[in-house]
Amino acid sequence: MDFGEKRNRKRWKQTEGKEDFAGNRSRLIMLNAAVILIVVVIAMAVQLVRLNRTGTTNDIKAESVVKTEQTPLPTEEPTQEPQEETEEREDVRKNLNPDKPMVALTFDDGPYDKVTNRIVKTLAKYEARATFFVVGNRVAKYSDTLKNAYNDGNEIGTHTYDHGDLSKMKKAGILWEMKKSGRAIQDVLGVKPDLLRPPYGNVNDKMRRLVGLPMIYWSIDSEDWKSRNVKKILKRCKEIQDGDIVLMHDLYPTTADAIEKLVPKLIKKGFQLVTVEELFYYRGIEAQAGKVYYSGK
Ligand code: NI
Repeated sequence: MDFGEKRNRKRWKQTEGKEDFAGNRSRLIMLNAAVILIVVVIAMAVQLVRLNRTGTTNDIKAESVVKTEQTPLPTEEPTQEPQEETEEREDVRKNLNPDKPMVALTFDDGPYDKVTNRIVKTLAKYEARATFFVVGNRVAKYSDTLKNAYNDGNEIGTHTYDHGDLSKMKKAGILWEMKKSGRAIQDVLGVKPDLLRPPYGNVNDKMRRLVGLPMIYWSIDSEDWKSRNVKKILKRCKEIQDGDIVLMHDLYPTTADAIEKLVPKLIKKGFQLVTVEELFYYRGIEAQAGKVYYSGK
């Protein structure tokens, strides 16, 4: 091997190496290009997904903006709503005719959803109102029923907390019954009762001094609790005259049945069905605490 040959071979080797290197390089470039292409595709895909997402979040943001625009500020609402409700409620309707006969139907011993709601519905149907003397310990359980009756314009009085016979109680017992029932009603309606129907119709001097509310008796006893018979209830209610206060109980389905017949009958006769407060207002009676009232006559 001479020098030239050696050189040639070296050169050949070098060129071979170079060619080898060049082949590797083109393969590498292609590989790189492929990798770059994949990366670009992935990047584009990621970008697309991101765009979609921001699109939906923008939509959500836009929606919530619309919502907040539609509803008034939450801080304003709760303070205004109860005020509006009490403003809307008219305890005494001013559009009644004082020259037309009036009767105050009253219901004791409730509330009881199954019966009270039926009576309230019938009254509302005929734009009639009544007074419910509720038992304090039933008020929390039937709070929706009580609210329903009150919101329809009916009057809510107290019939004590435990339906206790106040005439047999000592001072502390009477005060406890009055305070506890008043608070139970106030917790649900936001207002205290203005009238008391004494349980068992029993009244004594100690009660007159302590109850702090006018005591509402009745002039017509439907005896609905005794007969639990629609015909017999209606028969007793035939005697109803202008100014009467009628005693009933919203505990018995037969009482609700009777009311469905009695209310349209009374209206046909020309009666206006009113609360005790309305009856007293139109008859010029200023009810006083501790006094007993039997009617608006
Ligand atoms: Ni009772």
